[in-house]
Amino acid sequence: MADQDRIDSFFVMHSARADQWREVLTAAEAWAAGSGTRAKVEQELRDILLIEEFHAYPGMRLLARLRERIAAGEAAAVAAMVRRIADAILTNSYAQQVDGETGGEADDSLPDVLPSVVSGRDRHRPYFEVLLVTPQPQSRWASMAVEFRRLRRVEDQFVYEPVIVGSFEDALCAVLVNPQILSVIVAEGFPFHSAHDAPILRSILDKTLGKLEPSSSALTLAGLIKKVRPELDLFVTTDRDVETLAGSPQSACVRRIFYAVEEVLELHLAILEGIQARFETPFFDNLKRYAQRPVGTFHALPIARGKSVFRSGWIRDMGEFYGINLFLAESSATTGGLDSLLEPTGNIKKSQEMAARAFGADHVFFVTNGTSTSNKMVVQALVAPGDIVIVDRNCHKSHHYGLVLTGGQPIYVEAYPLTQYSMYGAVPLKTIKQALLDLKEEGRLDRVRLLDLTNCTFDGHMYNTRRVMEECLAIKPDLIFLWDEAWSGFARWSPFLRPRTAMGAAAELESWQADPASVEAYEKQQKALGAKPSREKLLETRLIPDPRKVRLRVYQTNSTHKSMSAIRQGSMVLVKDVDYPKVESQFHEAVFTHASTSPNQQLIAGLDVARRQMELEGYGLVMNAISIALKIRQAVNSHPLISKYFRILGANDLIPDAYRQSGFKDYLAPGTTWGDVVKSMKEDEFYLDPTRMTLVCGDAGFDGTQFKGILANRFNIQVNKTSRNSVLLQSNINNTRSDVAHLLRVLIEICGEIEERLRSGGESERQVFAARTRSLMHDVPDLPNFSRFHEAFRKDAGKLTPEGDMRTAFFMAYDESACEYVPLNGPEMDKRLASGPDLVSANFVIPYPPGFPIMVPGQVLTAETIGFMRKLDVKEIHGYEAAKGLKLIKPDALGAGRNKTAKA
Ligand SMILES: Cc1ncc(COP(=O)(O)O)c(C=O)c1O
Repeated sequence: MADQDRIDSFFVMHSARADQWREVLTAAEAWAAGSGTRAKVEQELRDILLIEEFHAYPGMRLLARLRERIAAGEAAAVAAMVRRIADAILTNSYAQQVDGETGGEADDSLPDVLPSVVSGRDRHRPYFEVLLVTPQPQSRWASMAVEFRRLRRVEDQFVYEPVIVGSFEDALCAVLVNPQILSVIVAEGFPFHSAHDAPILRSILDKTLGKLEPSSSALTLAGLIKKVRPELDLFVTTDRDVETLAGSPQSACVRRIFYAVEEVLELHLAILEGIQARFETPFFDNLKRYAQRPVGTFHALPIARGKSVFRSGWIRDMGEFYGINLFLAESSATTGGLDSLLEPTGNIKKSQEMAARAFGADHVFFVTNGTSTSNKMVVQALVAPGDIVIVDRNCHKSHHYGLVLTGGQPIYVEAYPLTQYSMYGAVPLKTIKQALLDLKEEGRLDRVRLLDLTNCTFDGHMYNTRRVMEECLAIKPDLIFLWDEAWSGFARWSPFLRPRTAMGAAAELESWQADPASVEAYEKQQKALGAKPSREKLLETRLIPDPRKVRLRVYQTNSTHKSMSAIRQGSMVLVKDVDYPKVESQFHEAVFTHASTSPNQQLIAGLDVARRQMELEGYGLVMNAISIALKIRQAVNSHPLISKYFRILGANDLIPDAYRQSGFKDYLAPGTTWGDVVKSMKEDEFYLDPTRMTLVCGDAGFDGTQFKGILANRFNIQVNKTSRNSVLLQSNINNTRSDVAHLLRVLIEICGEIEERLRSGGESERQVFAARTRSLMHDVPDLPNFSRFHEAFRKDAGKLTPEGDMRTAFFMAYDESACEYVPLNGPEMDKRLASGPDLVSANFVIPYPPGFPIMVPGQVLTAETIGFMRKLDVKEIHGYEAAKGLKLIKPDALGAGRNKTAKA
């Protein structure tokens, strides 16, 4: 496989920079010590120079000097210089250097990036890089960089360095590979083709953006850059007809257009203003100010200002542990510089608007009680009693409880099972279309309100969100979508994952709707389908909706705290709904229903700050999380000892072939190229989020819960969820390569212990081990599908369709006289299963793991459900008390249930 096609070549490109400079250093030191050659140094350097051109440090001047020294044979000086560069890149110290603080040799290593007028100011002015795309000859670039540096002022809040490129292709490469670029200036008149003949870069561009039409239009380039990194500020400078340019609809993505370069100070100020607009955190900034004010409090919350804590002899350690600012920033006030989360009019409102901009939504609601609450808010706001909701049965319990609260009637759709690992995948589109077509056949589509799915699932299955919405809208053009993206809020910040998010797909659908070609495509398909297409035809066709009829109504919830730097429970609801004005008041009611009237200030501030971070460094952080996941996957599965007992499941283990239409197998499959990965991300029905890694531990003789305990108690490694024979590892924006090293060392140690036990325990130990692994890996219970709602709760249901009135069943459980308890393992249970009367659950019964309801109120229990429950060997089962048995609705009360439903 050509190197440029290696799948990690893109993600690792940025994070591997430091490693590559280390390779140059090794070669340079060997040359200086007489054991290496100049040729080797030159070769190592050649490998990295290409990508270095897209970074401000070490910069062209310093690299030229390095090359001169190599040419002059000054091996010792070269080694010293490379060491400084390699260290600066590894530690990011070049971004913090200030003038005058580096003496001697340092002049040689950092001259290109020293902010020239920063002396004396604090060292922590945030640093970023500005890409300048210019038609000027390369010989002028160094002096252009100097001109930019001259603009720096002591009062600037941020400091930046220019990165200069001379073509359309190089500009795209630079924004892809250098996450520190936060603003782009496009000066018209540049050529399309890169001067480099660099297959690796060309491969990345082609695979990421598709075959590009040669263009030298500043606005076309700006549009493509926005597609890759929507958070960047774009400026265009032109010396021709500035008015025409500004009037073009394509210029909507440009922050400002300047006439020629005579306004260079204005440009500098506009760049800084753009960064400030992302850096600003209206609520957090206000909270900090509030904390500094001498406020007297005569309201509840004695902890505010910390006096009850710091004056106490008994609880002062709490104050010392958390620090004074936590208490100074605590308040139950909503005035005096703060705002009300329930009805924001000031800085919370502004913070939410900024979050909407960042996440590509029209509106954002901050939620301080987790996505558990966000989901209930959305369901309540959109669903009225009796409305039908098509919902993934394995979704988080908040959706099920939301339906109980509103009286929405669920049609549970099943994800495909992954029985061997005791988990589910995601719901196939065909299943969803089938449910909608059934409803259509019965003339009940008008009752359907919402499609509610989890994206990505706990185990990393990402839907093809655009395709799901398109095809569903082709059947019901006003269907509303709720995508629970509790785990994948971060995906917004990767150009590869973004199209698979709710908001990413909604943006694409919006553009599609505005394109006249879409109507043509729709009409062409209608003609081909004919007047009465069969159900089979509709199921197998990739349906195109009628763009004129579609009402695009998309909601997303995300646990900001699960994948970004928000404090636990910080969550957001994102709204992109053309009919939002019609539900706005309902939405506010839902917020009033569920939001605490004492929301925590620190949680709101955390949401504000998480947004700031993602807009300014999310791209690099997410790229890092993905590259770390790829490293862990590679290291575990290829290590000779670890891979004897442990394995991280690939896409081909977790997604059946039928849903990987592109033919993609896995990141690690031999021969897999970067192009295969991008194709799979774009086309496949399901795609595996690489950062969610299912580590199978059953072959090492551990069940998931046991192994999770070992990792936590002995090695201080915390993992995500477990299954019968696996644990879920998640890499995220805080992981470093040290974490990878620690994990590998721990797995090696555990494998060593297993080997030692098997060696010293003899044949009997080996037999016990084999029996245990066999049981964990092969004696796995079948996963039960949702059976059906009892007829008592299907009074107003359709014939073909399985919805049920779960709320009535739920509240029947409040009446103890209407309920009975039947022991799970007793003969009564078997007798009832065999010959009735029906066993009807009064409760949600949710075992952890797997964490989805095995039973819901009103559900008729079957032998499969009971068989699964009996085989479960987990301790935590919500809604089930082993001592009493399963709580059921008595058969004679079911008639009452029927009456209640009828009355409702
Ligand atoms: C898919 C899904 N949605 C929602 C939630 C609830 O989120 P939170 O913990 O933020 O309340 C979870 C929690 O694990 C989840 O897995």
